[in-house]
Amino acid sequence: MKALSQKRRHPLAVIALLVMGLLMTGGLYAFINASQAKADTSYSASDVSEGQKLFVANCATCHGMGASGTAAGPSLVGVGAAAVDFQVGTGRMPMQMNGPQAQKKPVQFNADQTKQLAAYVASLGPGPALPDEAMLDGKGDATHGGELFRVNCAMCHNAAAAGGALTRGKFAPSLAGVSAQHIYEAMATGPQNMPVFSDANISPEGKRDIITFLQTIESQGSPGGNDLGSLGPVSEGLFVWVAGLGVIIAFTIWLTSRTS
Ligand code: HEC
Ligand code: HEC
Repeated sequence: MKALSQKRRHPLAVIALLVMGLLMTGGLYAFINASQAKADTSYSASDVSEGQKLFVANCATCHGMGASGTAAGPSLVGVGAAAVDFQVGTGRMPMQMNGPQAQKKPVQFNADQTKQLAAYVASLGPGPALPDEAMLDGKGDATHGGELFRVNCAMCHNAAAAGGALTRGKFAPSLAGVSAQHIYEAMATGPQNMPVFSDANISPEGKRDIITFLQTIESQGSPGGNDLGSLGPVSEGLFVWVAGLGVIIAFTIWLTSRTS
């Protein structure tokens, strides 16, 4: 013990302590990361090989052989099954023309083919898997979901989820009519300009609440009358200024014209 406390004052002791601390933090981080990012094992080998064939025929021109990426499309190693299911399931992929943002188009692959493509991409590296069915039932807490939505999503998608413009010709689409699964996958994978909301940011239960909120506002409609597109206070204020004031002015003109 005595020998140890004497060595504590050795000039190299600080460096040794620092190195030890760094090694421990690094090791811990690697361990936690490895336990979170497990490869997806829910697909069969034939799903993967069929998916690879579809991929070579339809996607490899842009995403490269082995999905390692080319100048025309990013690498898909590690984007996960969820990204493929979202991009192919909403008709964004295969992309047809270059533009600021991949367009939604009629879906080109059926459910089986989409699953096979997802299986192939998931086999290349760990990434977000398809969401758990229990999180898609729309039976979460809509009020909490509304809070999460206003904090995390409303600046792009608008408080009523009606969508909005972004810079350089990009836009955040309206979320009406999007399936629960695609909403979840969009949060988990962050397509294009949208940030990724990992489980550390918004827990799976939080995502379930957001989905419930979106379904609630969609089914509620607009009980207060025409919503003027839900585009926010500017469009509604403008309407009141132009139409509301117009009526009042017309009325006063009519009143004064009667007195003479
Ligand atoms: C014409 C070129 C082109 C084709 C064909 C194409 N892609 Fe893409 N893909 C892109 C580009 C460009 C992006 C990145 C920009 C974007 O997301 O719109 C992308 C993005 C993606 C993403 C999102 C990656 C991420 O980081 O989340 C996935 C998944 C994807 N593609 C899958 C596919 C699949 C599967 C096919 C075949 C069915 C396919 N793509 C065909 C050009 C293409
Ligand atoms: C920085 C702006 C931004 C934020 C914040 C954002 N999004 Fe998005 N979102 C986008 C963009 C841009 C797209 C379109 C991506 C594309 O077309 O590939 C998108 C697409 C989507 C889609 C797909 C819609 C469709 O028509 O298929 C859903 C669902 C979605 N977002 C939900 C959310 C939710 C829920 C949140 C909050 C947790 C959120 N977004 C936060 C920008 C954003």
